[in-house]
This record gives sequence, C-alpha cells and structure tokens, in this order.
Amino acid sequence: MKARPRVAVVGATGAVGRTMLALLHERAFPATEIVPFASARSAGQEIDQLTVRALAEEAEIDGFDIALFSAGSGVSREWAPRFVQGGAVVIDNSSCWRMAPEVPLVVPEVNPQAIAQHNGIIANPNCSAMQALVVLGPIHRAAGLERIVFSSYQSTSGTGVRAIEELKRQAHAILHETSPPAPEVYPHRIAFNVLPQVETFEDGDDYTTEERKVIAETRKILGLPDLRITATCARVPVINCHSEALNVQTTADLSPEGCRELLAGAPGVVVIDDPAAARYPLASEASGRDEVFVGRIRRDDSNPHTLNMWVVGDNLRKGAATNAVQIAELLIADRDDARVVKRSL
Ligand SMILES: NC(=O)c1ccc[n+]([C@@H]2O[C@H](COP(=O)([O-])OP(=O)(O)OC[C@H]3O[C@@H](n4cnc5c(N)ncnc54)[C@H](OP(=O)(O)O)[C@@H]3O)[C@@H](O)[C@H]2O)c1
Repeated sequence: MKARPRVAVVGATGAVGRTMLALLHERAFPATEIVPFASARSAGQEIDQLTVRALAEEAEIDGFDIALFSAGSGVSREWAPRFVQGGAVVIDNSSCWRMAPEVPLVVPEVNPQAIAQHNGIIANPNCSAMQALVVLGPIHRAAGLERIVFSSYQSTSGTGVRAIEELKRQAHAILHETSPPAPEVYPHRIAFNVLPQVETFEDGDDYTTEERKVIAETRKILGLPDLRITATCARVPVINCHSEALNVQTTADLSPEGCRELLAGAPGVVVIDDPAAARYPLASEASGRDEVFVGRIRRDDSNPHTLNMWVVGDNLRKGAATNAVQIAELLIADRDDARVVKRSL
C-alpha cells in the first residue's frame, strides 16, 4: 500500500459518507486524491470542494488504492469486487461482506491483526456492535466474557439522511400542533416515540436483522463463536449517537472499581462515572467525538460476576466513518509489512 494513496469515497453524499470526507480532512489523511461517488442523482454536486461522480457503468474506477464504501449492501455487492479488480482495498460499511469467512471484520482497538488476512475487502462492523466492542474487548482480555445482554437505544442518523429529516419534520409538526407527516422511513412515527424495531424481521425470525448482526458480529470480532449473547435494539427520537445498556457476565470477578480502572486505560474509551453528580455518558455530549463513553458501571446483584454499564458512541463517527478511516490508516502504516498483501477476489 502506498504511503500516499488515491482514495474513493462511495456513498459520499450520505450521513456516513459526508462524515468520512470530513474525517479524512480532519485527520490529515495523506491522500494524493479523494474522489467522491454517489448515485446518478447526486452527480455534479459539490462536497468539501470535491465534485461528486455518478457510480455508473461508464465511471472510471481503476487505479484507486483505497475505496471507502457506505452506500448500502446492494451497491457494495455489485461494486466492491470491481474496485478490488481495479486495484483498491475496499473498506466497506455495509453488512454485505461482514460475515463472509474470508473478509476480516475489524475494530482497530480490538482485533487489528485481522486486517492482515484481507483479500481486497475489509468490513467495518455494525455501528451498535462497534461501540460495545471497544468496551467489551478489554473486559474480555482482563476477565473473560461469559454472557452479554445487550439493549440499545439507537439514533435516527443510524438509518441515514432521510431518517433524520423524517424525525425533524414530524417533531416540527407536533410542536406546531399540526398532524405529523406519515412515516416513510420507519414503520411508525419516530417523533416522541420509541420503536422496538431496528431494521427488519426476516423469514419469520422474531429477532430483527440488527439484533442478529450485533450477536453474530460480536462473536466474530472477539473470536468467540459460542459466546452467550442476546440483544434488543430500539430506535429512539435522538438525532445522533447510540446509547446502550450492557449486562456483562465475566469468568473472573471484576469489581466496578476494577472495571473503571481497566476501561480508563483502554484505547478509544472515556469513563464518565459519577452518578451522584449526574455525570454519565450522554448522546448530546458524545456527538462529534471519536471516543466511546462508558459509565453507570455497577454490579448486577442478581447474578455472579456480572456488571451493568451504559455505553454511548457517535454512530456516524466511531460507529462508521472513524473506524473505516482508522483501518485505512493502519493499511498505509503497514505498507512495508509483507503480510498485508492484497490479492484479487
Ligand atoms: N448511519 C450510520 O450510523 C451507519 C453506521 C454504520 C454503517 N452504516 C452503513 O453505511 C451505509 C450508508 O449509510 P448512511 O446512513 O450514510 O445512508 P444514507 O445517508 O442514506 O446515504 C446513502 C449513500 O449511498 C448512496 N447511494 C445510494 N444508492 C446508490 C447507488 N445505486 N449508487 C451509488 N451510490 C448510491 C447515496 O447517494 P445519493 O445521495 O446520490 O442517493 C448516499 O451517498 C449503509 O450500508 C449503512 O448500513 C451506517
């Protein structure tokens, strides 16, 4: 991998894509060129003084070193292999490749070594699994994980630009005492409501696809295929940042104090835990930050070796764009490492 790569951003007009472009700039990513792609609808639009190109048959997609994808699974399935054929390593935000055995699923703070196994595509985990893993990784290394009960309160930016607009339009109408517009993105009104459904119920499953992703991806990233984990994901009328209540049973006992100390030294984690002073992680404070915030760490007295905690992260940043850019940074840092070899799919 070149020290100064040529970078494509696919889905550049979306909630994640725009954050990726901002982060490449913010982190002074040493790209020789950054080319934004989106659908034909957005061709010619200017973002960050770059002109968006349409991802279409006639698009010039050869010669990129890194392609950051966030345009949904369908686009990734069709276009990621083509970018790989054209010379790029694809870092994909969709769920399309995450569970493919030959595709590493990477959280740099937890399993950076997995990057070396890539065959041209590296998957970025689901946003709600991602922020939990930054906290669960160090706990697993210190005390071993036995079981996790995962409950999430997920923001509308996790669904993309149209969902943020839907929340704002509905909230505006209700606050002005008019009828809110009918939901288009979600199955029910999201303003002043809580939906116990994130994504869809497929093939008669009584867990949603989001819940299935959290379970499967957590096991894959931690390398614990038999980890006992269950999940309930809810959508809440928050614009940005997912909040999560984690119930974590460990093999060895870990006290709340020990857990706070452990996580205070963990990369990418900030502990805010002074409940008497009303200090704990908040979506309003985590928005725009790259770290994952944890607090309310306390014993679950109903079960041995079990802690409860509250975890908040910016789903557009660490939950998506920041993690993808961190992977890109590792790729160029490891350019002299013979193990990081890209082979065509
Ligand atoms: N939002 C999050 O917190 C989050 C976190 C982790 C992963 N993800 C994943 O990241 C992906 C994007 O999410 P998002 O929230 O950014 O969605 P979004 O705001 O709806 O943006 C979608 C992007 O994809 C582009 N696109 C759609 N159809 C396309 C096509 N046929 N060809 C080329 N580009 C096309 C859109 O371009 P136009 O503007 O031209 O339509 C837009 O740039 C999804 O796979 C999502 O699951 C999202």
